[in-house]
Amino acid sequence: MGIQELTLESLNVGEFISEKVAEIKSVVGEGVAISALSGGVDSSAVTLLAHRALGKRLKTYFIDNGLMREDEPEYIVSLFKRLGVDVELIDARAEFFKELKGLTDPEDKRNAITHVFYKVVFGNLVKDSGARYLLQGTNYTDIEETIAGIKRQHNILEQLGIDTEKQYGYKVIEPLIQLRKQGVREVAKALGLPLEIYARPPFPGPALSARIIGEVTPEKITIVRAATKITEQELESSGAFQYLAVLHEDRVTGIRDGKRNFGLQIEIRCWESKDAKTGSPTRLSYETLEKLADRITREIPGVVSVTYNITKKPPSTIEAV
Ligand code: XMP
Repeated sequence: MGIQELTLESLNVGEFISEKVAEIKSVVGEGVAISALSGGVDSSAVTLLAHRALGKRLKTYFIDNGLMREDEPEYIVSLFKRLGVDVELIDARAEFFKELKGLTDPEDKRNAITHVFYKVVFGNLVKDSGARYLLQGTNYTDIEETIAGIKRQHNILEQLGIDTEKQYGYKVIEPLIQLRKQGVREVAKALGLPLEIYARPPFPGPALSARIIGEVTPEKITIVRAATKITEQELESSGAFQYLAVLHEDRVTGIRDGKRNFGLQIEIRCWESKDAKTGSPTRLSYETLEKLADRITREIPGVVSVTYNITKKPPSTIEAV
């Protein structure tokens, strides 16, 4: 695929950081660049690399797409403020929900998110700020899966033949493209990011929309957001690679207050994996599973069924959409 992987064994973190800082400086020159911060380890590392390279000439934006976890936008903005990086919060919730309306096919949903993110939101931000470059945290696994046709990762553009300058009006810089997650974590740690960021479980670019089967609506996001919070609270100490909750489209019959309730289903997934390329379900204790089911059905109105996914990747993928 034309890009050479830099394995963990051959990564010299100090040298890598100096090289990437120099590269960003030389590409951007005297101009302005934009960083698309999502708060994941990839975009956090890129933001700090670019901040080292460009200082005030870097504009960092956090896009609130309405699909984030609870309190995520405020949490990330304040965390970066403590690190000396000003982040502007952009409210793009309405734009994303408008574009997602009526879409049920997974790839259509992913394409819609890519379109709003790069064309609508960043197209305008770039125009307004005079920037010619967008920095983003694409990693080696993202390109591999998109090219293999498994999933269109939200951040893959040039590798799919998209000329970002022509289509969106800016060039994309991807300093982490040769690294897998473990390598990115090492770089993030060396850059001085706190443990809560460099050790953070992965979270997909399309955010909670990757965890809703069928149409994405604000109401469904509220439900999957509540299930995500409980799942993360209960599984944080599991040491697993990633854990998540999925909201299903099909309903099942349940009982509430002694009456029939044709209610919602939440599926829990918890993964053991090194690089997200393959994975297997964590052997969670029955106690943990029961606690999850109890809390989710008790705390989230309308949910009457909780299941645990016991499939490996492949044939499953980590996210449901
Ligand atoms: P899948 O679901 O393809 O996920 O097995 C592999 C890893 O990638 C994350 N993921 C994404 N990350 N943009 C991202 O930045 C995306 O569009 C995306 N989709 C999935 C997923 O959470 C897992 O860690």
